[in-house]
Amino acid sequence: MVSRVIPVNPFDLVLFGATGDLAQRKILPGLYHRFEVGQMPEDACIIGTARSDMDSDAFRDQIRASMKEFAPQFKKDVLDRFLKRVSYVSVDVMGDKGWSELAKSLRPDVVRAFYLSVGPNLFSNIAQRLDENGLATPDSRIVVEKPFGHDLASAKSLNEGLRACFKEHQIYRIDHYLGKETVQNLMALRFANSLFEPLWNSNHIDHVQITVAETVGVEGRGAYYDQSGAMRDMIQNHLVQLLCMTAMEPPSKFAPNSVRDEKVKVIEALEPVEPKDIARGQYRAEHGDDGYVDHVGNPSSRTESFIALKVHLGNWRWAGVPFYLRTGKRLRARESEIAVYFRDPPHTIFPNVGPLRGNVLVIRLQPDEGITLRTTIKDPGPGGFRLSDVALDMSFADALGADTRAPDAYERLVMDVIRGDQTLFMRGDEAEAAWAWVDPIIQGWEERGDRPARYDQGSSGPEEALMLLHRDGRRWRQIGG
Ligand code: BG6
Repeated sequence: MVSRVIPVNPFDLVLFGATGDLAQRKILPGLYHRFEVGQMPEDACIIGTARSDMDSDAFRDQIRASMKEFAPQFKKDVLDRFLKRVSYVSVDVMGDKGWSELAKSLRPDVVRAFYLSVGPNLFSNIAQRLDENGLATPDSRIVVEKPFGHDLASAKSLNEGLRACFKEHQIYRIDHYLGKETVQNLMALRFANSLFEPLWNSNHIDHVQITVAETVGVEGRGAYYDQSGAMRDMIQNHLVQLLCMTAMEPPSKFAPNSVRDEKVKVIEALEPVEPKDIARGQYRAEHGDDGYVDHVGNPSSRTESFIALKVHLGNWRWAGVPFYLRTGKRLRARESEIAVYFRDPPHTIFPNVGPLRGNVLVIRLQPDEGITLRTTIKDPGPGGFRLSDVALDMSFADALGADTRAPDAYERLVMDVIRGDQTLFMRGDEAEAAWAWVDPIIQGWEERGDRPARYDQGSSGPEEALMLLHRDGRRWRQIGG
């Protein structure tokens, strides 16, 4: 399959926090890749900004070093050409330094985007400075990273701060999960095929499991993570977005507000979660390896590095269908997937085969992005009529061809910003609705003084998470299975 690249219009992208981890690890390598395939035009400009005093050459050297570490397959001559498009201005976002120089480096007649790869405490301030210094034009875009708030109140105040200077159609709230190829494919699977949609409801679906398992711990991010935990860090945004994509009604068109209107309806239909439907965990120290509390430097921490929830949607399509969500750090494998369990066939016509198992559609986000449908077939050959499970398996890597690199989520999303397409970005009301659902759950366990259960590193999480499904006569899919 030959991938098609449609170049975007010339642009000036100002990257705040340009020397930071996310910029160096994801955003700049992502831009390089879009340049390499010809999507980023030769006359586009990237202006890195941060507080550090350095010149553009030093910044380019930093990018070269990051590319060696995070995207070592780069082509040297292409990187040299790419870096010609990159410059650096030192800007103090809390003071006056650098703003006029930044203004001088921007062109009047190209798309203008400000990417805030900085903490949310700086969002409103930078937005205001951009406005006061005349850098924000009616058509320019502002991109903000997660976390988009810590609770509903802080998300509202971030929205107010941004909207004081930018209109909603200019604001791009990133949830990088929406840029993952398979998440977009879920829309194609559901809305470009006639096979699944008639079955996509409580009449035919028994339950849904959404798993985002990671092998990494929270080392190096302890200060942020211990204030957040898995509920705020992953469920409020990434897993809720996956749930939305799975459960939403078909939008009337593939357009930003049509899609986002439907997603908001899903979030608003989320029912409160009872304490018995929540399992929280924290990875323990073992075999000489530090545990969660050591990584965050807080021996009495009650923050969860794992969470599993049983969630219900109060609407006609999904009434009675549980959505089980789980995510955690230091688990057995890095694996993210959405597994849709169809109901078991109501009756078996085959003698001596026992009850039949329902079909399972698995949408794999990572690793090895693809889609699998578990089906039951007759065991080939003689030996009586025996049945077995077989996976109809589609791997995107195979479909794309071995030489084609699947683009990283950030590559796609940054190009969408330049194109002015907000479909894969969270709208302000969406972020607020997700917090409105999450806040009482967190308040509940804080008021009850719940402590997370300990789990072994390299496991599938605490026993309590297994019980969440066992109780209902179901089982989680095996992580790393
Ligand atoms: C981030 C979270 O948003 O997503 C991290 O803050 C998490 O804690 C990361 O590790 C996971 O992203 P991915 O793309 O590696 O699954």
